[in-house]
Amino acid sequence: MPSTPSMPVVEMTGIGKSFGGVPVLRNVDLRLDSGTVVGLLGANGAGKSTLIKILSGVYSADSGTISVDGQHLGSASVTEAQRLGIRTVHQELSLVPSLRVYENVYLHAELTKGRRTPFAPLDRETMIRESRHVLRDVLGIEVDVRATVEDLPIATRQLVEIARAVHERAKVLVLDEPTTSLEAREKAQLFQVVRDLRNQGVAVIFISHHLDEVTDLCDRTIVLRDGAVVVDAPTAELSARDMVTAMTGRLVDHQYPKKQVQLGEPVLAVDGLTREPVYRDVSFVLRRGEILGVVGLAGSGKTELIRGLAGSLPAASGSVTRNGSAVRLGSIRQARRLSLIYLPSDRKVAGIFPEHSVAWNTTISALQRIMGRFGLSPARELSTVNAAIDEYGMKVSGPDQVISRLSGGNQQKVMLARSLLGNADVLLLEDPTRGIDVAAKNDVYELITSLVEAGKSVVLVSSEETEVLGMCDQILVMREGRVRANLAAGDTSLPQIRLIAMSSEGDDE
Ligand SMILES: Nc1ncnc2c1ncn2[C@@H]1O[C@H](COP(=O)(O)OP(=O)(O)OP(=O)(O)O)[C@@H](O)[C@H]1O
Ligand SMILES: [Mg+2]
Repeated sequence: MPSTPSMPVVEMTGIGKSFGGVPVLRNVDLRLDSGTVVGLLGANGAGKSTLIKILSGVYSADSGTISVDGQHLGSASVTEAQRLGIRTVHQELSLVPSLRVYENVYLHAELTKGRRTPFAPLDRETMIRESRHVLRDVLGIEVDVRATVEDLPIATRQLVEIARAVHERAKVLVLDEPTTSLEAREKAQLFQVVRDLRNQGVAVIFISHHLDEVTDLCDRTIVLRDGAVVVDAPTAELSARDMVTAMTGRLVDHQYPKKQVQLGEPVLAVDGLTREPVYRDVSFVLRRGEILGVVGLAGSGKTELIRGLAGSLPAASGSVTRNGSAVRLGSIRQARRLSLIYLPSDRKVAGIFPEHSVAWNTTISALQRIMGRFGLSPARELSTVNAAIDEYGMKVSGPDQVISRLSGGNQQKVMLARSLLGNADVLLLEDPTRGIDVAAKNDVYELITSLVEAGKSVVLVSSEETEVLGMCDQILVMREGRVRANLAAGDTSLPQIRLIAMSSEGDDE
């Protein structure tokens, strides 16, 4: 590892930025040395993405200076930042869905045969070969590089996005919450890539809400609170508790707020639910007041199963009983009519209406609730939305703020509020705390708890096994499309769940 105390690769000094008169970054200094990984932590809306967008040339700062390798980076220009060697994986994935994987990897940097002119024929063979190399040999995933991006699961898209950033040698690699859709194995692979790049002298900025990832990977940690740096120290000197306290300004309890709720009658029972080849012969009974967790590796069928229950990936065979009657979950509309409401993990699929306000996005599925006698009641809409803003601690300027102007985690809170406001009786939640900061996560768990106390039932599909262990009553572990074990949360452990998820050694029978 290069150890000379040489000039930093990146030096940001006194960075200030306001949106509509509201300061988002205040006098931020960030120094980045080659061959180091710096973790950037902060609550939802603290200013992390804004800071790295300034470094990547997406926004210009209102004040302060930036230099890269001693060269001054002037007003916002993505091209200029890229020329200086800065590669960024943004929080909102930016692949073009209609293009193929390799075309996305080489977007705006297409290889041509001969001289690079607008008329030169494209060198597709090399682009395909190189994309395949980066994805398979470097990132360790099998994906057809000729596949169209919109046909890929979200985890694979995230990896393609990362491939795009690493295929050209960067000086500075910026990763804004790159692990949100990744499972343990893919995460480990990504971390290996980051470590290799560090050893080759690349400087890395790594943003995450997972403190253990930061502890594991980062040499130094910077904590932003309300747009100002409150900690900048070697990671080894910081405990998880120090990090949380710095982020939130208070101590946050790490306990899951699970309460034992008296379980009622079965509200949803499925028997032999099958949709080849993604899920097969799935059976369970969900009772009133119960939280049913579903875990498994990527590709285990857990996401497809919840989509099956939501009606978007309907089963071809098997039976479903809802409150004692046989029903079909053949479409999203049918599931909704049965008060089964689904929260997808991908905000883009979840149908954010980017140009509309927080209020509009929150209440769109709860319209009947806020309809007054003479149509939509603005007063009721306002009170509903204000209550949601309060309950989730959303960082917004007000109900009228356009949703695309919110930080990623705050957009996720709006989506969650929407799914909970509808007339849901059974909630189908897919990674509900994805992208949500440590403090707000606890609020989400409290909310789920109060929902089951009020007699609702929840199916919780999650890539965080600890969350499932901490919050659920019953846990299904899936592997290769089948339920391999149905466990009472009180009788199992993390190692047991992992073993079953990964190999036949852990199976029930
Ligand atoms: N284009 C914009 N216009 C107006 N306000 C914005 C814009 N982009 C960001 N903001 C505001 O700036 C603040 C910081 O947002 P930012 O996206 O940097 O937060 P973050 O730390 O990345 O949060 P998260 O963890 O949720 O991703 C938020 O209050 C957000 O609403
Ligand atoms: Mg962000």
